[in-house]
Amino acid sequence: QQKSEKPRISLLVAAPRGFCAGVDRAIKIVELAIEKYGAPVYVRHEIVHNRYVVDELKKLGAVFVEELDEVPDGVPVVFSAHGVPKAVPHKAEERGLEYLDATCPLVSKVHRQAERQVEAGRHIIFVGHENHPEVIGTFGQVDEGMMTLVETVEDVAALNPDDPEKLSFLTQTTLSVDDTRAIVEALQARFPSIVGPKGEDICYATSNRQEAVKSIAKSCDLVLVIGAPNSSNSLRLVEVAEREGTDSYLIQRADEIDMAWMEGVGTLGLTAGASAPEILVREVVNRLEERYVIDEQKIETADERMVFKLPRGLEAA
Ligand code: F3S
Repeated sequence: QQKSEKPRISLLVAAPRGFCAGVDRAIKIVELAIEKYGAPVYVRHEIVHNRYVVDELKKLGAVFVEELDEVPDGVPVVFSAHGVPKAVPHKAEERGLEYLDATCPLVSKVHRQAERQVEAGRHIIFVGHENHPEVIGTFGQVDEGMMTLVETVEDVAALNPDDPEKLSFLTQTTLSVDDTRAIVEALQARFPSIVGPKGEDICYATSNRQEAVKSIAKSCDLVLVIGAPNSSNSLRLVEVAEREGTDSYLIQRADEIDMAWMEGVGTLGLTAGASAPEILVREVVNRLEERYVIDEQKIETADERMVFKLPRGLEAA
């Protein structure tokens, strides 16, 4: 009897990985909106940053646009999980458009805090990544000039606020836990009276996925992260693995794996960002199985059971 010629590798699959409750809810909102109103349903911006998800929803009848101007009159529109500036729902109301807001409740929570801080007369220092839609959405909750973006500890040193006694800080939900801690510490050191959330606003899913990949990275020769190049939380997973001293690549689909990366790899780590569906994880495993005998092991660092309620009117659909 011939023995298998395939080399053996161990595969450590991080858990939690992939879909978070906010992504799950956002996708359901689009699906249920199509059921309720019929196709087409317009979606402003990628509902979540994942091409596969977007393509699947397109097949059901979703049409993706970047701005509200591109939505024709009389068709419903969904706002993406990342959140939108206040001007967007206002404009939709002016036009009499039916809209559904798929903003993650954890992002909405930051929006409300931003309003509250400005009402209390505080200028907000926002820790986030420039041009990310979540950041644009959060800035759009308050009047222009009420919020200043910082991305690094150096940015904190360069701040020159009008009243250093009247400051607060908020953060994007999908940041690096370690980098953000350093930035928040720098803010608190420079402005001792600054008001902020306990810790930061990084969501449970972002921190759990970072902790999970951190726990496997050291034992791996390579870590693959499934996610989109515009997905903030996925990019952070690559960084976390690299900081543990392990090579790491972001891939969108199994066909993006360059088999040359696998040379000398005995233990491979695998995870997925919060907007990447599990089917893409299985696709990667299947592709690897064409070449290797795989000993797969799940390494779980947290038990996630978060579920977010659907907007009223859709639960019944
Ligand atoms: Fe919400 Fe965090 Fe997911 S903010 S959309 S639960 S990554």
